[in-house]
Amino acid sequence: MSTARSTANIALIKYWGNRNNELRLPAADSLSMTLDTPHVQVLGEEADQFSIESFEADGSRKILTKQQIERLRKHRELTMQYLHTLDIDFRKNVALTIRSQIPSGIGLASSAAVFSAIAEVFAGLIAEEHPLTREQISVIARLGSGSAARSVFGGFVALRNRATSNEQTSNGEIAGAFAEQIAPESHWVLHDIVIVPSLKEKKIGSTEGHALAGTSPLFQDRLKEIPRRMQECTDAILTKDFEKLQRVAEEDALDMHEVMRTSTPSLQYLSEETWHIIREVEALRTRDHLEVLYTMDAGPTVHLFCTEDAREVVRSFANEQKGCTVFETKIGRGSELV
Ligand code: DP6
Repeated sequence: MSTARSTANIALIKYWGNRNNELRLPAADSLSMTLDTPHVQVLGEEADQFSIESFEADGSRKILTKQQIERLRKHRELTMQYLHTLDIDFRKNVALTIRSQIPSGIGLASSAAVFSAIAEVFAGLIAEEHPLTREQISVIARLGSGSAARSVFGGFVALRNRATSNEQTSNGEIAGAFAEQIAPESHWVLHDIVIVPSLKEKKIGSTEGHALAGTSPLFQDRLKEIPRRMQECTDAILTKDFEKLQRVAEEDALDMHEVMRTSTPSLQYLSEETWHIIREVEALRTRDHLEVLYTMDAGPTVHLFCTEDAREVVRSFANEQKGCTVFETKIGRGSELV
């Protein structure tokens, strides 16, 4: 038996578009901050059959859709394939119990937390005979959800669009992207104040969205910009230069949303409320010289990253936004066995 917990992460340099959709091999590098709450806990036990039970934050049973069950099955199958490349025979059937503390409707996708916790559980089940490295666990997480690879580490984390040097030759494509830590959570305590405008329309999920990225005429230009942005973002983190971080993170988030908007079909995740909040944050920042930056994923939710000094003012600002749900979290330590 093995139990793990994990959390979501929010990207500063976004992952959007794959070079291989089935294996979730990204088209470029990305970089995120792992959050410390809310968490997902996954318990895995050897069983006669592969099975999954899932529970919501309030303890009620969650009925999984066929698509969700298929995704979990596929993840296990890909994990077996990957472990096979490491000469590990992982034919165990596992009963998984997923308990999510992530309230629905706060605009935090749970897939990164879920798949990083499952990767941790699979690794835990074979740890005695075959201990895996953190990078290898991140590859397993990635096979379920690309961004989940980054939740395997705490602090600031890059998802590298290449195999680790010692795996390149033996593992081929399946190991072709892994996560690595840029700086631990103790390096720079940043907060994420999350503003969730009322979610009206139904969104196209990231998995379908990644597959459309290549239809945008802006996508190739975006890919060319990523190496520079990764470097600037890494430098900003290592030197704790908030202004530099703000410039590059906002440039990248807005660029990703332009790629989404100009893809076929057009994906418009940002709502009028999102733009309103962005404008207000910009005005507030100019007025009060606050260390705060905004970033948005595949939805209208605005993440306001800020320093300890700016937190109080940013929190009040967030609570003033009418009709919005506000949730507060900060940098965290990533997935682990419990
Ligand atoms: C916009 O990791 O959610 O949040 O592999 O289909 O689960 P799947 O995609 P996912 O994509 C994340 C997209 C993003 C940007 C990011 O987190 O980097």
